Amino acid sequence: MRSFCIEGGHTLSGEVTISGSKNAALALIPCSLLTKDKVVLRGVPRIKDIFQQIEILKKLNVDVKFVDHTLTIKSNKLIKCDLTFEEMKHFRASYYFYGALLWRLKDMKVVPPGGCKLGTRPIDLHLFALKEMGVNISFCDGIYEFKATETLNNYLRFPRISMGATINALLYAVSLNKTITIENYSKEPEVFEVIKMLQMMGAKISYNEDVILIDERHQLKGTTFNVIGDRIEAGTFILLGASLGKDLTIHHIEKKHLESLFDILDELNVDYQYEKETMRINKTKSIKPVTVETGPYPSFPSDLQPLLTSYLLTVPRIHLIKEMIYEDRFSHLAELEKCGAVIKRINHNIIINGDNELHHAKMEGKDLRATASLVFIALNINGISEVKGIEYFERGYEDFVEKILKLGGKMSIVGDDVK
Ligand code: UD1
Repeated sequence: MRSFCIEGGHTLSGEVTISGSKNAALALIPCSLLTKDKVVLRGVPRIKDIFQQIEILKKLNVDVKFVDHTLTIKSNKLIKCDLTFEEMKHFRASYYFYGALLWRLKDMKVVPPGGCKLGTRPIDLHLFALKEMGVNISFCDGIYEFKATETLNNYLRFPRISMGATINALLYAVSLNKTITIENYSKEPEVFEVIKMLQMMGAKISYNEDVILIDERHQLKGTTFNVIGDRIEAGTFILLGASLGKDLTIHHIEKKHLESLFDILDELNVDYQYEKETMRINKTKSIKPVTVETGPYPSFPSDLQPLLTSYLLTVPRIHLIKEMIYEDRFSHLAELEKCGAVIKRINHNIIINGDNELHHAKMEGKDLRATASLVFIALNINGISEVKGIEYFERGYEDFVEKILKLGGKMSIVGDDVK
């Protein structure tokens, strides 16, 4: 089994460029299936979840070319088939194929999505939106059957906010020849990227704080679109900069996507400058307790909670994080304890003691961001640590080892299966 071997405590300096956003690309790729024309996506990260999605496209007989970071998609020869492939179960974002493909396939069977285990991760809001827009849904032996009908509501109001369900609703709504409004929608940056691309493809979409309005369908056409930088990878390098940086320069960061993290840096007086998508950051001795609550955008992203937990272990005082999105995103805590971390969990609250001396250890990540938090702490601790969970980590980080080595950090992959 492969694992990371990390010699921690080394300063990180030099320049690093953040890769394209995993979660944006995972939504934009299915979005490309809303036209039979060619769609070109630039800045697509070469990570596992994207390759899973490409496998699905190939099974659907879609022409796909992935050269460097440019993905070209043309789906004029799409075949009708059910989406019960194994790959559908391997990542969460396979749910975007429901909304994107129903207008072409009219009826299809699908398997529920996979993804990291963070407690129950229902797709009820996705199903709710599709049902409201006229899709008949049945569930038998672990497989959903979707049938598109004409009996739809023009008005859809989500009972709770979900990014994935908002995007899925958009993907289906633009394919209908009706005017549809969506209320109580998610305002995560990825939602607006999908809207932007749909508009470039010719969709008539407008929105304000409260509502998205999709006008009657217009023939969607091909486009070329640049994927935004990955805000979670950016957050990872920013926190590494705050704990280990010496003139660490990070390119391709959109500050407005990460205001909640910048607020924490300011609260802790972290030494950084930001201008035109580039940040320069230095290791800073902060000694202030912080309290952070995860939540839907613009609140602090849950995906960064495990990384912030690890970072706060390096900041003296006692900190509090409230995990408000996922009921079970805590698997990193027991692993962090293996390196001497003093952390208490009470319900959804994580209490972190940043005063404790940490030592190198063997740790195992059980999901993508949990593994990232262990890699983070290992980079910060003197001595050699081992971190398992590469198979999760590779779902979301592109060329991470190469990037760290270039900055002066020391880590490698050991064990079987070295790529
Ligand atoms: C997406 C991201 C994930 C991120 C999460 C929260 C992708 C592929 N994944 O996941 O990395 O952690 O947003 O920012 O982009 N919920 C329901 N019913 C649903 C859907 C969601 O109750 O039908 C709940 C979830 O359990 C969770 C919350 O709503 O508590 C957020 O879900 P959502 O934003 O949809 O997250 P995901 O699409 O799962």
